[in-house]
Formats: sequence, structure tokens, C-alpha cells
Amino acid sequence: MTPGGVNSPVRAFNAVGGTPRFIRSAEGAWLTDVDGNRYVDLICSWGPMLLGHAHPEVLAAVNAAVARGTSYGTPTEPEVELAEEIVARTSVDAVRFVSSGTEATMSAIRLARGFTGRDLVVKFAGCYHGHVDSLLASAGSGLATLRDALSVPGTPGVPASAAGETIVLPYHDRAAVEAAFAAHGDRIACLITEAAPGNMGVVAPEPGFNAFLAATCARYGALFVSDEVMTGFRASRTGQWGLDGAVEGWRPDLVTFGKVMGGGFPAAAFGGRADVMALLSPSGPVYQAGTLSGNPIATTAGLTTLRLATPEVYDHLDAAATTIKAAVADALSAAGVAHTVQSTGTMFSVFFCDGPVRDFTDASRTDTRAYAAFFHAMLDAGVYLPPSAFETWFLSAAHDDRAVQAVLDALPGAARAAAAAGEEGTA
Ligand SMILES: Cc1ncc(COP(=O)(O)O)c(C=O)c1O
Repeated sequence: MTPGGVNSPVRAFNAVGGTPRFIRSAEGAWLTDVDGNRYVDLICSWGPMLLGHAHPEVLAAVNAAVARGTSYGTPTEPEVELAEEIVARTSVDAVRFVSSGTEATMSAIRLARGFTGRDLVVKFAGCYHGHVDSLLASAGSGLATLRDALSVPGTPGVPASAAGETIVLPYHDRAAVEAAFAAHGDRIACLITEAAPGNMGVVAPEPGFNAFLAATCARYGALFVSDEVMTGFRASRTGQWGLDGAVEGWRPDLVTFGKVMGGGFPAAAFGGRADVMALLSPSGPVYQAGTLSGNPIATTAGLTTLRLATPEVYDHLDAAATTIKAAVADALSAAGVAHTVQSTGTMFSVFFCDGPVRDFTDASRTDTRAYAAFFHAMLDAGVYLPPSAFETWFLSAAHDDRAVQAVLDALPGAARAAAAAGEEGTA
């Protein structure tokens, strides 16, 4: 009926084996499947559920909004208030709402091309920006010459022409960035990067790296697009930019948002410099539109979520993450499993290999067999981790002592299972 039984590939268990659980309901930090089993949720809908599931105030606001009608196709108050909240917290002067992170990055790239009159896009291997044609491209061989880095499509169905407009470089490789701009600078519309990569596991940008990217783009008249779909309002109250740009004194030209700002509904956004955003239709010539863009239910959920995402929420996330990170490291060390725990702000992930992990080549060393065993042992013990070794582990404000303790209790057994799987792998 549905290809692979899922409506987004990350939900499948292909990488770890077995069958995904069908979830019937969720509350706070807990998921309940159709058989009545309960799990501590470390996926949190892949990021959005910052406050936990079924937060009473979000539900009340959403229910009240639903009662007023579900979509009008006209401007509404909640979308203006959400835009104000996003502008207040981040570097952007203006925002346009869309319905998914993919739409946000797709539209940001079009706007960058429209603004610069250029076609090429630079991205980094291991960064995911949604399933936009030109952004699925990945390098044929990571550290190849620039010509080789002009990439091949990452999936059937992407025209070679779309992939050919994308230059894929190794993350953190300043020399490769310099060389790409030196060779193609007058044709590069933008460089897009995850503000802090979270889609190869968490790889925090080294201090000054995003500033270097912003400065390089500026030098060549290209736009710097910071993808905060995952990090926005999650890595910190002000996203990854709050951890680097705001401190170092630079800002991206365009930023994409999603996940947390939709409060569990399909809402995303892109925003940026006033002069660039002014080029968007109808104030400018770059066309972009959406029947359900800025939907009143979705923007109400997002607005309520952001208003409730106080500094105390981030302190709580930080404390819960710190406890779990230390316990994972202890359990894996005690079992003799190679691992590296990496984080940026309140976001973290665990690589099943020695660190540091600085780019996709490093991340690819992770022992996926050990992770699969670890994942299933955690699941059997009632903890639902991402079914992939390359994902961020997401927490929420509802991960209280009881939920965190359930994770801690499951870790030693899962670490031993990972160790046993690792030994089988090398036997
Ligand atoms: C950094 C980043 N950009 C873009 C996207 C695409 O967002 P969506 O799945 O809402 O299309 C994702 C999704 O995981 C993401 O993590």
C-alpha cells in the first residue's frame, strides 16, 4: 500500500532490522504503540516536539484555532505574531512561511539564484536539506579535485543537470571552500550549510567556521544560507546562530527554519536580509507561493510552542542531555564499545566509533552493526531511539527524572549488546 510501509524513509527500520512500531498516542516524553507498549521517546518527531507531546497549552491553543476554521487563504494574526517571534529571536529581518523544511530550502535557493543571477550551489557532504533535487547530490569521492566534486545525482530521478549545479565539499574543509570559490566564484549563487550538521549525527562547527563561510560568500558576492530547520529554536533559544553568529558578530544572508517552529504541524519558513527578501513575489519578481502556507492552525501551534520555549526549557534540556550523554559514554566505555558523543547546544548524538567526527567521512566510520544491536536492546527496554546510527537524539522539556531514569536503566544492557555485536562483526 505504502512503499516500504512508511511515509518518510527515516521511519523505516531498514538500517537496524525489524519493523517500526505503530504509534497510537503520545504524551509528554512517552509514546504508546498500537499494542499498548510504552516507550521513552528520543525521536520527538525528528525534532519538533520541544515541549513534549500533547502539551496542554499547545493543545488548548490549537483546539481554539480549529474551532475558528482550519484555513482561510488570507493573511491572519497568528502568522504575523509567529513572524515577529522568529524575527525577535534570530538574525532575520523578514520571513515567509511554507509547509516543510524542504520547501524552505528550495525557496531559499531560488531566491539566492534570483538575487545573484547565478546558478551554482555549494553544499557539504553529509548535510541534509530536504529532498530538493539539487540538494540531494553528494560528492562522488569526498576529497576529489573540484571537477570531481561537481557532483552526481544522489538518487535516481534527479536530472544530471540539477546535480551538476551543485558543488559538494567536505565539511570543515576551508581549503576546499577557498578552491571552489576561486574556481567558480562568479557562478556561485549561494553556499548552503546546516547551521550545525545534525543529519550525519551532530558535528558542531568548529569556532569561526560558519563565520569563515559567511565571509567567503560575501567576498564573492554569493549568499550564505544557514539551514536551521533542525537547530532552530532547539540547539538554543536562538538556534545555532545564537551560539556562534550572535556572539561573533555576523549574520547569514538567508536562514531556513522548520521543525520546532511548527509545534508538530507542517510549518516551516525561510527568512533573511530585508533587501534579499524584498525580491520575493509579490513585492519582487522571484515567485514563491503555497495554498496552506502560514496555515492558522500550524502557526498557532508554532507560536504557542515558541512562547512556551523559555530559557528554563533550554536549561532543562541541557541538564537532561548532560545526564544522558554522560551515562551513554559510561555504559559504552564499561562495555568496551568505541564511541564519541558530540553536541551543539542542547542537541547531541552518539557515534559508534572513535572521534573526533569532523565530517561525513569520519561519521561513516560508525559501527552500524553495533548501533543496530544497541538500538534494539534499548527498544526492548522501552526506549525509542532513531533507527539510524547517523541521527540526532532528541529530548523535550517533558523528559523528566522518570523518563531520563528509564533511559539510564536501559543503557548498560544495550551497551553490552553493542559490544557483543561488534565482536561478532570482527570474528
Ligand atoms: C537541516 C534540515 N533541513 C531541511 C530538512 C527538511 O525538512 P522537511 O523534512 O520538513 O522537509 C530537514 C529535515 O530533517 C533538516 O534536518
